Amino acid sequence: MSLLPPLNPPLTKWFNQRVWIIGATRGIGAAVARVLVARNARLCLSGRVLSGLQEWHDTLTTEQKTHTTLTELDIRDPQGIQKTAQELFLAWGGIDLILVVAGIYDGLCAPDLTPDQMPLIEDTLQTNLLGSYRVLAAVLPLLRQQRYGHLAFVSSVAGYNGLPRALAYAPSKAALNNLCEGLYFELRPLGIGISRICPGFVATDMTSHADYFMPALMQPEQAAQEILAGLERGDFEIHFPKRFTTLLKIAQWLPRRLYFYLLGRAVARSSAQGAFG
Ligand SMILES: NC(=O)c1ccc[n+]([C@@H]2O[C@H](COP(=O)([O-])OP(=O)(O)OC[C@H]3O[C@@H](n4cnc5c(N)ncnc54)[C@H](OP(=O)(O)O)[C@@H]3O)[C@@H](O)[C@H]2O)c1
Repeated sequence: MSLLPPLNPPLTKWFNQRVWIIGATRGIGAAVARVLVARNARLCLSGRVLSGLQEWHDTLTTEQKTHTTLTELDIRDPQGIQKTAQELFLAWGGIDLILVVAGIYDGLCAPDLTPDQMPLIEDTLQTNLLGSYRVLAAVLPLLRQQRYGHLAFVSSVAGYNGLPRALAYAPSKAALNNLCEGLYFELRPLGIGISRICPGFVATDMTSHADYFMPALMQPEQAAQEILAGLERGDFEIHFPKRFTTLLKIAQWLPRRLYFYLLGRAVARSSAQGAFG
């Protein structure tokens, strides 16, 4: 518990709150959506493939269904984002929270970094970083007009320090972490809240093929609870599980000589356990 005031206005109630989740069809985004439906929020759930959500949507009560819209959307498509944003603002008369969860992981390592890999690198940056800019470009004029609302971006602890085997993913998240700080400074005075969310390892499709050891692995439902609790506290940075993420935060302060030494030991230990390929 902190003695200092929260950096954002706490989102203390979810009833009737108007929430747009981009990247809600699976994993962490879908888990947050399920909790918010139970708390009677009004939701727009976006992603490219809605089939994963449709079955669950069919099981909702009539009232929950009328409060939960599924919208096919690719975060790489600026027109699609702008259209959905404008339709939502019109239909809802405003918006309380935009949660950007959409992301892809690449697993790129240096020996594979050849011209053939450029499409993968571009796709990672388009989705994980430029997608957030596209959302901002579409919603900021509307949020500035209403002078309230909260933007939350799911980034990653992979953005804290340079990491092997994530040579497109980790830099995309590092840039997103940095972007959130700049946004916070400029948008808070305008009444708009900003949070960056940095999970450790979560058991989703993204990590299902990982061939390395994932310390402190969480379930998406636990991640959803952590995200919502952080928003309810008004946190700027929401990171979890603390026993893992705190170590990575401390690593940001280490001299690089020591960081590379410790990273080397961690990689070697993982390899000995049959991980890291
Ligand atoms: N799992 C972890 O260990 C972990 C750790 C730290 C951070 N994160 C971050 O958490 C976020 C969610 O990851 P997850 O673990 O839940 O992965 P996931 O299960 O693979 O889900 C990814 C979500 O992003 C959506 N998405 C991907 N590309 C998209 C696009 N071009 N346009 C719109 N939506 C798109 C997917 O929907 P469609 O495929 O239907 O479009 C899906 O809903 C990501 O930003 C990830 O980097 C995950």
